[in-house]
Amino acid sequence: MVREYRVAVVGATGMVGQAMREVLEQRDFHVGELRLLASQRSRGRRLAFKGEDIEVQVLDDDSFRDIDIALFSAGGAISARFAPTAVEAGAVVVDNSSAFRMDEDVPLVVPEVNPGDALEHKGIIANPNCSTIQMVVVLKPLHDRSPMRRVVVSTYQSVSGTGKNAVDELEVQTREVQEGREPVSQVYPHPIAFNCLPHIDVFLPGGYSKEEMKMVNETRKIMGLPDLPVSATAVRVPVFIGHSESINVEFEEAIEPGEARRILAGAPGVQVVDDPESSLYPQPLDAAGKDPCYVGRIRADISCPRALNLWVVSDNLRKGAALNAVQIAELISGT
Ligand SMILES: NC(=O)c1ccc[n+]([C@@H]2O[C@H](COP(=O)([O-])OP(=O)(O)OC[C@H]3O[C@@H](n4cnc5c(N)ncnc54)[C@H](OP(=O)(O)O)[C@@H]3O)[C@@H](O)[C@H]2O)c1
Repeated sequence: MVREYRVAVVGATGMVGQAMREVLEQRDFHVGELRLLASQRSRGRRLAFKGEDIEVQVLDDDSFRDIDIALFSAGGAISARFAPTAVEAGAVVVDNSSAFRMDEDVPLVVPEVNPGDALEHKGIIANPNCSTIQMVVVLKPLHDRSPMRRVVVSTYQSVSGTGKNAVDELEVQTREVQEGREPVSQVYPHPIAFNCLPHIDVFLPGGYSKEEMKMVNETRKIMGLPDLPVSATAVRVPVFIGHSESINVEFEEAIEPGEARRILAGAPGVQVVDDPESSLYPQPLDAAGKDPCYVGRIRADISCPRALNLWVVSDNLRKGAALNAVQIAELISGT
C-alpha cells in the first residue's frame, strides 16, 4: 500500500502556488487530498489538479485540520501567523518565505546539498531564497572537489520573483512605453520595462540589500560554512521567468574548467550548457518551465589562479521555489 498525503498549498493562486500544483502533478507526489488556500480575494475560484477542479478556500485557523504537509507561499507575515497553527494541527510545514530561514531550530534545505538536515525538523522546514538555491546546487559539487574560499555573485532576477503583480507591471509598462506613454510604477520604485534595478527588497545599514544578505547568510547556513566570505549584488531585470547569475568562486586548489565541466555534468539537478562558440549558454527563456540549474561560460578567472567564473540560470518559480519545496516534501515522506 502506497501512503497518500493530505497536502495544503497556502498561496495557491500566486505565482509559486500555481507552480506547486504543476510540480505536485508532474512528479506524481502521492496526494490523497489537495487543499488550496488563499485570501478572501480568491474565494470561490476553482483551480485544476489532476483533471479535477478544486475550489479555493479562504485561509483561517481551521484550514490545517487533517493536513499532513502544508506548503506555504503567501509571504512572510502569513507564514509567521499560520505556520505554527499548521504545526499545532499536526502538519509538517515547508515554508517558502523568509520568516523562519535563519531560525536555529529550522532546517534550511536544498535536497541536492543538505538533504539530511530536512530530517532534523521540528515541524517547519524552510525553503531558501530562489537566488541562493540555484547558486548552491552548482557550487556544492565543486566545493566537494576543493573547498571554496570566497564567492562573489551578481544576479539578474526576473519579475516573477516578486509575484503576480510584478509580472502584470512588466507587461503593462512594456505596452505603455511602446505606445509612447509614460510607464506607471506601482510594484517597483522605477519602471522595470527596458530597465535594470540594482534594488531587491529593502536596503540595510552598510549598503547591501536584504536580498543580497539573504544570499550571504543562507549560503553559509545550507553549506554549513558559517565563515565563508560571500558578496552579492542583486539586480532586477525585465525578464518574466528565470534568474541568471554571474558567479566568481575561488577554491583552495585550482579546478581546471574542463574538470569543473565534468564534475558538474554528473551533479544532481545540474545541466551543463557550455559551447560559447556555437552560441550555446544558459538563458532564462530556455530555462523557464524546466527543472535543472543550467551552468555555462565555465572559465578560469584570469585575475585569480584558483578561481572560476560561472553563468548559472534556473526557473525561479520551479527550482527556486515550488520544485525545491516538493522535493523537500518527498524527502520527509520518503517518496
Ligand atoms: N516568486 C518567486 O520566485 C519566489 C521564490 C521563492 C520564494 N517566494 C516566496 O513565495 C511567497 C509567494 O510568492 P509569489 O511570487 O507566489 O506571490 P504572489 O504571486 O503575489 O502570490 C501571493 C499568494 O499569497 C496569497 N495571499 C496573500 N495574502 C493572503 C492572505 N491574507 N491570506 C491568504 N493568502 C494570501 C495570495 O492569494 P490571493 O490571490 O487570494 O491574493 C496568493 O495566492 C513569498 O513569500 C515569496 O517571497 C517566491
